[in-house]
Amino acid sequence: MDRIRAAIVGGSGYGGGELLRLLAAHPFVEVVEVTAQRAAGKPVHAIHENLLGTSDLVFTDRAPPALAREVDVLFFALPHGEAAGRMREVFDAAPPVRVIDLSGDFRLRDPEAWAAAYGKPHPAPDLLASFVYGCPEAAREEVRAARRVANPGCFATGAILALLPLARSGRLEGRVAVNGVTGSSGSGTDPKPGTHHPERAADFRAYRPLVHQHVPEIEAALRAAGARGLSLAMVPHSGPFVRGIFTTAYFFPASPLSSPEVAALYRATCEGEPFLRLRSETPRVGVVCGTNYGDLSFAVSADGRTVVCLSAIDNLVKGMAGQAIQNLNLMFGLEETAGLRAPGMHP
Ligand SMILES: NC(=O)c1ccc[n+]([C@@H]2O[C@H](COP(=O)([O-])OP(=O)(O)OC[C@H]3O[C@@H](n4cnc5c(N)ncnc54)[C@H](OP(=O)(O)O)[C@@H]3O)[C@@H](O)[C@H]2O)c1
Repeated sequence: MDRIRAAIVGGSGYGGGELLRLLAAHPFVEVVEVTAQRAAGKPVHAIHENLLGTSDLVFTDRAPPALAREVDVLFFALPHGEAAGRMREVFDAAPPVRVIDLSGDFRLRDPEAWAAAYGKPHPAPDLLASFVYGCPEAAREEVRAARRVANPGCFATGAILALLPLARSGRLEGRVAVNGVTGSSGSGTDPKPGTHHPERAADFRAYRPLVHQHVPEIEAALRAAGARGLSLAMVPHSGPFVRGIFTTAYFFPASPLSSPEVAALYRATCEGEPFLRLRSETPRVGVVCGTNYGDLSFAVSADGRTVVCLSAIDNLVKGMAGQAIQNLNLMFGLEETAGLRAPGMHP
């Protein structure tokens, strides 16, 4: 078959770098162009040094509509708010092009919910409903049929995967507490006071407690999967590592759940899923790093009144570029795992 022609808008960041690294090993996709702002004109390997000898592309600064006419699929890996205003021109220029957006710009269908989460009105509210929320484990058939995919957020991916078995069973309801701990690559390439190494390397802190912008997309995805009356209390944390998100979710069921019952729900959800692994011990960010796996596990209290749901992902892979490629594979009718089979590292 002809290779799928892909371009990346905003490829000099961490998301763009991971797309380039993973797609270099994809059997059916060729990245034909990659854009950047400040890095325009530089070779890709000048920014992503790990790609020296792998990519001979040079960052361009061409506008997305011009790119869209020449490719089959366009990845957007821009900071939040940068893709939304550019999307209409892209679809006007090349209506059939497929788009996968890594930012939060199209993850919510309701413009008012989006404005509440992101603190400003959406620049193209009428386009929101044309995007499918691309979490394959929760909505595989919708992704398969989609031309426009909003890739889930990294905290959102960790929380959705951890709680999906309970949501699917219809048992997940009411208030659920979620702690997510992310590595420093979660906030992109530009150094900020909270991500600067001396400030972060030996520290641990919470940020945006109860008001993180990923909460509405998590609630929406879990409700669509079967959760009822769900309300998340989420506290994100910055951990002293580079890659990975570890999620701990606490659910207090109205009627007790036994450990074998919960085990059966997790087994049913993970069965046949190429990227979900049910662990008998705690998941570990160290062993999913570099991979598209979401490792899951759970614990149930002796009285059945507390269920703790755990997940570990690589925020840059399953939480971003790997999941985007998984979505591409589904959208183009490819094997879902194409280009994503490399195992992780240990230690
Ligand atoms: N990091 C994560 O763990 C993660 C996970 C899931 C989703 N996301 C989301 O994915 C998106 C990309 O994240 P990231 O971590 O890769 O960000 P990043 O490292 O900050 O990279 C941003 C990219 O966008 C380019 N850019 C910035 N402003 C631009 C503009 N006005 N016009 C054109 N290009 C522009 C930058 O180019 P120059 O540097 O050359 O100027 C760079 O290539 C964000 O929306 C982020 O929220 C991130």
